[in-house]
Amino acid sequence: MTNKIKVGVFGAYRGMTMMNVLARHPDAELVAVCDKYVPALDKCRALARETGINLTCYENFDDFFQHDLDAVVLANYANEHAPFAIRLLLSGRHVVSEVLPVETMAQAVALVEAVEKSGKIYAYAENYCYFSATQEMKRLYRSGAVGEFMHGEGEYVHDCESIWPSITYGEQDHWRNRMYATYYCTHSLGPILTITGLRPVRVVGFESRPVANMREQGYRAGTSGMIVAQMSNGATVKSLHGNLKREPGSIWYAIYGEKGMMESDRWHEGVSKVNLFTEGNDLTATEVSYRPRPVVDSTLAKLTSTHGGGDFYTMHYFLEKILGRPAGENCIDVYQALDMGVPGILAFRSICQGNMPMEVPDFRTLEAREKYRHDNWCTNPSVAGADLAPFTAFESPDISGDVYDKVRKEWESGGK
Ligand SMILES: NC(=O)c1ccc[n+]([C@@H]2O[C@H](COP(=O)([O-])OP(=O)(O)OC[C@H]3O[C@@H](n4cnc5c(N)ncnc54)[C@H](O)[C@@H]3O)[C@@H](O)[C@H]2O)c1
Repeated sequence: MTNKIKVGVFGAYRGMTMMNVLARHPDAELVAVCDKYVPALDKCRALARETGINLTCYENFDDFFQHDLDAVVLANYANEHAPFAIRLLLSGRHVVSEVLPVETMAQAVALVEAVEKSGKIYAYAENYCYFSATQEMKRLYRSGAVGEFMHGEGEYVHDCESIWPSITYGEQDHWRNRMYATYYCTHSLGPILTITGLRPVRVVGFESRPVANMREQGYRAGTSGMIVAQMSNGATVKSLHGNLKREPGSIWYAIYGEKGMMESDRWHEGVSKVNLFTEGNDLTATEVSYRPRPVVDSTLAKLTSTHGGGDFYTMHYFLEKILGRPAGENCIDVYQALDMGVPGILAFRSICQGNMPMEVPDFRTLEAREKYRHDNWCTNPSVAGADLAPFTAFESPDISGDVYDKVRKEWESGGK
């Protein structure tokens, strides 16, 4: 008899990161994985041999669904998390979802209601909320170090041009080729919400124009997306993400309060360092820069410290939450997940309407849900039906099938 939580992973590409933690975690029994791409399953079998676990590999989700599982990690396509999460929750499984939480506003309503109906745990695996800098900034903010929140900035600038073949495989309809500029917004916006505990109430979106180099990779949308938000306490936020040119990429967060400000490092030290400025009542200034200690300093946390350590915590806190332990409160629940993800959908709607402001519904309330229950607006024809969104408000590039063939060949030959 074991008290370990039986976990399955759906999607074995990014999912391998989670499997690396779960296969070794003392509270988890990694029992199943599902991916239709067989070479990914071969790597899972190798992990099972290396760690001595008994892992069943499935190519079909319906077969995987029948496996005896307490909890499932969703690391499948970014735009397909919600329908699978709903099905799993209603079958009695706890769910932890990779980014993004939903593709449409209607899915947001359905997801919230499935979590509430099932009584199961839903956790959002926004790993950028668990860098050592973002966890430390949360601790500092909650201790009152910089006073009440006034303004924040979050950036996830990652030029993916060179890796586009290896993350889209030349698939014309891959979700990364269907994204619009503000969709992938929770890496930049999420940590600001986690640090402050506040939510956005109104957003305006902006996109930069599509560029030729990304068009040659098969990407049709604006190059970067910017969300400007008004927060529930009257503060302002700027969130920027996209394929802008910069190396190293920018993963950066800044929090201004009534008594000071703090930010992660903007260049090489990135999210492993915090810079803190505070001002006393007599206007005396204090400035300090330091590398925060990891919140969990275990061998496993060190061994699985990808993405600045964040990848360990998404799994660890999910297990702690299921087991009813206090550290589980660090999980991002479904309402917080939607506070982070829905602004990306609404900011693009703002862009398509000439940068009009959009109210961000609070899905904690029943009243907020009715307006969006049937709102399927997105770039995915099979979900949107007649309510199909464009890829960009600029002229959408027409990309021929030859481009995707070329990208596919690059992927097959091992990248650029
Ligand atoms: N948080 C992070 O830092 C981070 C980093 C990379 C990716 N991601 C997220 O991870 C998820 C997966 O991204 P990815 O990079 O692995 O690329 P991906 O989306 O191309 O891979 C998804 C994998 O799931 C499998 N899959 C999807 N639907 C399936 C189905 N119905 N049946 C069987 N297999 C199926 C695919 O074969 C593929 O191997 C996305 O949600 C993405 O946003 C997050």
